[in-house]
Amino acid sequence: MKATPLNYLTSAGERAAHTVPLTWFTLIVSILVCVIIAVLVWFGSARYEARGGAEATASIRVSRGADGLPWIKWGLILSAVPLLITLVWTMAALGQIVGPPGNPDLVIDVTGHQYWWEATYNGALASDRFATANELHIPVGAPVLVRLHGGDVIHSFWVPQLAGKTDAIPGQNNVTWLKADAPGRYRGQCAEFCGLQHAKMAFEVVAEPRDAFERWRQAQLQTAPPPATDLQRQGLAVVARRCSLCHAIRGTTAGSSYGPDLTHLMSRRLLAAGELPNDTGSLAGWILSPQTVKPGSTMPDQDLSGDDLMAVTTYLETLK
Ligand code: CUA
Repeated sequence: MKATPLNYLTSAGERAAHTVPLTWFTLIVSILVCVIIAVLVWFGSARYEARGGAEATASIRVSRGADGLPWIKWGLILSAVPLLITLVWTMAALGQIVGPPGNPDLVIDVTGHQYWWEATYNGALASDRFATANELHIPVGAPVLVRLHGGDVIHSFWVPQLAGKTDAIPGQNNVTWLKADAPGRYRGQCAEFCGLQHAKMAFEVVAEPRDAFERWRQAQLQTAPPPATDLQRQGLAVVARRCSLCHAIRGTTAGSSYGPDLTHLMSRRLLAAGELPNDTGSLAGWILSPQTVKPGSTMPDQDLSGDDLMAVTTYLETLK
């Protein structure tokens, strides 16, 4: 599955299919406006030069010509028509995307935090609930309801190829929905300035066939495997001492929901809300000095010995 860049000029889902043509229309009209104005300015200055420039035209008295008014009338008509089309088209598009088409197959609670995304999957039973972070999986072709929450300040949930932006506001429960037409990995991004690392608050939506999604969901429901080697046991001990104040690893004593749930950390493609590849080197570097990668993020640098860092990284890599 190839990762697609943040792309708002193509659509891969039902909601974006209604808004992307409107984006193209306003983009083309805006380009035309720029080009027409540039041509008129060029034409005016060329005529000015042809008449002899500043010296020759200094003595000409400026007066209102009899032919001035039609220019204003045509200018008004020319700008009013595309604006009116945009207004009607926007209203129609909003009407089409306001609610999910039919009952949602899945309800996900997504909370924006400085600077990462928490996702809680709901099910019919309390035991169907689990939390993950920065990587949402959804089944292809199924309407998914996303309830948005603001964990600290205002963030905005945006997966351009699937749906437009919806703000995640503290104290207010906004909803949005997604429906992917094709399997794929769709990049999302926080679209509301929320602090120093706003630009590094990305996520991915993985749309996959129903059976693959169900396998992923079952795997996410599992608790973490117990450590199998001495090094892994040492790693878990460091995690209990250092990381459990902020993170949860289900099946261990780490149970805080302040930071991302790490129970299946290695099932995610990226680290640090889309900033790093999730491999051994990046993981160790991120644990040691998050403030180098994302200055201002809430995770403090960890003053770990080489042994402890190796142990933690080795343990975390068992969290598949
Ligand atoms: Cu969160 Cu910008």
